[in-house]
Amino acid sequence: MTPKYETHENDVLIIGAGGAGLRAAVEALAQGASVGVVCKSLLGKAHTVMAEGGIAAAMCNVDQADGWRTHFRDTMRGGKFLNNWRMAQLHAQESPDRVRELEQWGALFDRTETGDILQRAFGGHTFKRLCHVGDRTGLEMIRTLQDRGVQQGIDVYMECTITRLLKDGDRIAGAFGYWREQGRFVIFKAKSVIVATGGIGKAWKVTSNSWECTGDGMALAYEAGAELLDMEFVQFHPTGMVWPPGVQGLLVTEAVRGEGGILRNKNGERFMEKYDPKRMELSTRDVVARSIYTEVKEGRGSPHGGAFLDISHKQAEYVKRKLPSMYHQFKELADVDITKGPMEVGPTCHYMMGGIRVEAETGRTSVAGLYAAGEAAAGLHGANRLGGNSLSDLLVFGRRAGLAAAEHARAVGGPAVDSAQVDEAERQLLAPFERTTGENPYTIHGELQDMLQALVGIFRTEEDLVRALGELEKFKARAGLMRVEGSRLFNPGWHLSRDLQHMLVVAEAVTRSALARQESRGAHSRIDFPKTEDAWGKKNHVITRDGAAMRLVEVPVAEMPEELKQILAEDK
Ligand code: FUM
Repeated sequence: MTPKYETHENDVLIIGAGGAGLRAAVEALAQGASVGVVCKSLLGKAHTVMAEGGIAAAMCNVDQADGWRTHFRDTMRGGKFLNNWRMAQLHAQESPDRVRELEQWGALFDRTETGDILQRAFGGHTFKRLCHVGDRTGLEMIRTLQDRGVQQGIDVYMECTITRLLKDGDRIAGAFGYWREQGRFVIFKAKSVIVATGGIGKAWKVTSNSWECTGDGMALAYEAGAELLDMEFVQFHPTGMVWPPGVQGLLVTEAVRGEGGILRNKNGERFMEKYDPKRMELSTRDVVARSIYTEVKEGRGSPHGGAFLDISHKQAEYVKRKLPSMYHQFKELADVDITKGPMEVGPTCHYMMGGIRVEAETGRTSVAGLYAAGEAAAGLHGANRLGGNSLSDLLVFGRRAGLAAAEHARAVGGPAVDSAQVDEAERQLLAPFERTTGENPYTIHGELQDMLQALVGIFRTEEDLVRALGELEKFKARAGLMRVEGSRLFNPGWHLSRDLQHMLVVAEAVTRSALARQESRGAHSRIDFPKTEDAWGKKNHVITRDGAAMRLVEVPVAEMPEELKQILAEDK
């Protein structure tokens, strides 16, 4: 019988072609699996390319005193000890090898005078640790991994959105989606699926994230029965552009501060002296973001509601060489020459520490055959991620997920695709076309962004979070009735109508978890519970699907082995 839809089959299907997805693909290929990579955008345009400052890895090229133990300790400390300790250990131990490997595959890093990979300072890292390519590190990472993956034979499915994971009983069977250009439906059959779709920034109004970041993978995995972990922890990067309005939120890399940039308020005061006199501008992101927010709130902000970030005391040639993207970004978008004067910057929704709950060694979720890696997965970063730990996370855990997914595929037979699930996915996708009344998805999305920005932002209260949950119920009802005009041929409104469903799932998980955590820790700041409480430091939040409802439970943070406790105890 001719299948109803175009169907592709691979041993391992990877959803997402950022650093984690591509690194997983390279590994699964090396294990002999046939690998398909689906990406919403064009290959090479994943959000990883926006990661600027560098890859954190204790290579010890600049500071010989560094080592995996210090990196482990910094990561745990930055994450306020909610991190999955095993992930933090593996990450710190394996990052240097993953960077060397990337170099062997062709990545051209900046160099020390003796020819080693150059490393720069970043917030919360004790030593100069970030391996970088000017301020275009993510771009070089993607270029390298993509060259390798394509050369080794991955099947790439570009401009395709996945709307549902398919299951064969309790195990994964593949995924269903549509080609963004023609709107045709497509089935991907696979023995293993890796979710590497990145984050959810586009649910907030001010964000550094690109259009793809709508929480798809987290929502897809949740709907397929996987667990979500610690969803309250959303990172606001301290420095995004605040002006002009069209580029508000665009990342201003932490490398500006890593290279010596200074933050000042409108009175010229170097305000980080007040908030973290020891680490100043290189404090952790949660602290710097809250400090800028507070300066603005108390009337000491810059003209467009941010702070001044100044690197103009450095030689112009140095700034242009170390921060070429920042130089051009400000020159072209804001008509500011950063070699001559300060930038205006403010917090921007940047990264999701929470995500799909995975097993540390393999990236395995609670659904057989389903894996997750990168920002879509949770655990490594705890309550707050250190800059640069994301790119090394992608490499370390992308590789591990690729390896485990390929092994799983070798061990199991081919799954069967259930046509009832496909029909249901199709029905959901087409429903907005069939309505003659209903709201436009853009209106709902814009209001959702405003609401999350206002009520589930940097500072939170019970009152705001309860209101946010009420608002989310209304958004869900409205989204269930929204209408899309036109045809399935490239129709961004239709695409958004689907993305919105994913954003609503993730937004609810964030809000419920934020309401439940009655303390302040890392990126989660409760005005009504300002202290960091020991008792809460022993609890992670897990969210699962219970029919149509979302269920949240507390689970104990896993006990750390003695030798790792020892490393943390050395932190005096
Ligand atoms: O500031 C930055 O360059 C961002 C890096 C990161 O989020 O790791």
